[in-house]
Amino acid sequence: ELGGYASFYEMELAAGAEALSQTVASLVDVDGSAIMDALDVDPFELKRIRKVVVVGAGTSYHAGLVGRFAIEHYARVPVEVDVASEYRYRDPIVDDGTLVIAVSQSGESLDTIVAVREAMAAGARAIAITNVVGSQLARVADGVLYTRAGPEVSVAATKTHLAQLAALELLALWLGELRGVLFPEEAIERRRALGEVAQAVGSVLEQTEALGATFRELASSQRFFFIGRNVALPVAMEGALKLKELSYLPAEAYAAGELKHGPIAMLDREAVVVALVPADRLRPKALANLEEVKARGATLVAVVAGEDARVTELSDVVVEVPATPPLLFPFVGVVPLQVFAGTIARERGLDLDRPRNLAKTVTVE
Ligand code: F6R
Repeated sequence: ELGGYASFYEMELAAGAEALSQTVASLVDVDGSAIMDALDVDPFELKRIRKVVVVGAGTSYHAGLVGRFAIEHYARVPVEVDVASEYRYRDPIVDDGTLVIAVSQSGESLDTIVAVREAMAAGARAIAITNVVGSQLARVADGVLYTRAGPEVSVAATKTHLAQLAALELLALWLGELRGVLFPEEAIERRRALGEVAQAVGSVLEQTEALGATFRELASSQRFFFIGRNVALPVAMEGALKLKELSYLPAEAYAAGELKHGPIAMLDREAVVVALVPADRLRPKALANLEEVKARGATLVAVVAGEDARVTELSDVVVEVPATPPLLFPFVGVVPLQVFAGTIARERGLDLDRPRNLAKTVTVE
């Protein structure tokens, strides 16, 4: 059943590239155009939306935070992202110009379902992104994009997150085309790049064993920080969440630019800082943050897109991932963090598939 893996977590993590490419294959035609017929939402209505709200919980919320960058970039429409349990209680401003995108692996998270129901009652259109066909969320929303990750057994999500990122990217491109921001040829080109990212993810997954051997040495550390900017911030948040839920250790994620506004006071020789460094225009800023961290004596783990001599010089552990287009960094950046959390938890003798106090699906408030 586990195909040689010691846990569902590790088996499903290893299936990330496949989950991604299956999802892309189901939503992109051979000629590179989008297959959105299953969405069943009137394109004319989508064209007219004035605001997008993405809701979800946990890992799905983090996918939404990544999706915001793609939607704002490709479709030039303002995007809000909120955890469903907050959104539903904050008396949000919703009207018929609002598109709600609800992200949920299970399609059964109660807060997410209620957030969608209430927004729809106030006039919003809603699209669900879920991995489970016929789930409650899929039935409630106006339209559905299914992720094709296959069933996920491990409580901590891995492969479904990659599939969610892909679905959001494709939805962003389609909104961009509908709204006339992207020429069809540009959208086709972006979809091709997304298809290629599956190979890049595959190449990161090939390093799983080697990464595990390196990360193992950090398993006795007691405090972890994850930092990133821009599209790498939600990746940092997801890395911290994975580590918290699997290893029960304090792990915080910060916008790297916020470090010096407070959290840097916590850094010392005992701390481990995992820094996400995409190949983008913010590389010099990221390097400045690495220097700050290093100066406090913390152990620095850098997940960096492409080779960078300065990053190597500053870091105790360097994880090099392929340099993708900047917006696609989260796909390759999150995988080493999934490996990181699994390795630390395993070294500490914990059950990767059944972290304490957690359920795979949260159908209560
Ligand atoms: C984290 C994790 C949870 C879920 C969250 C939402 O690894 O699995 O944080 O992401 O409970 O669940 P879904 O996506 O089913 O709505």
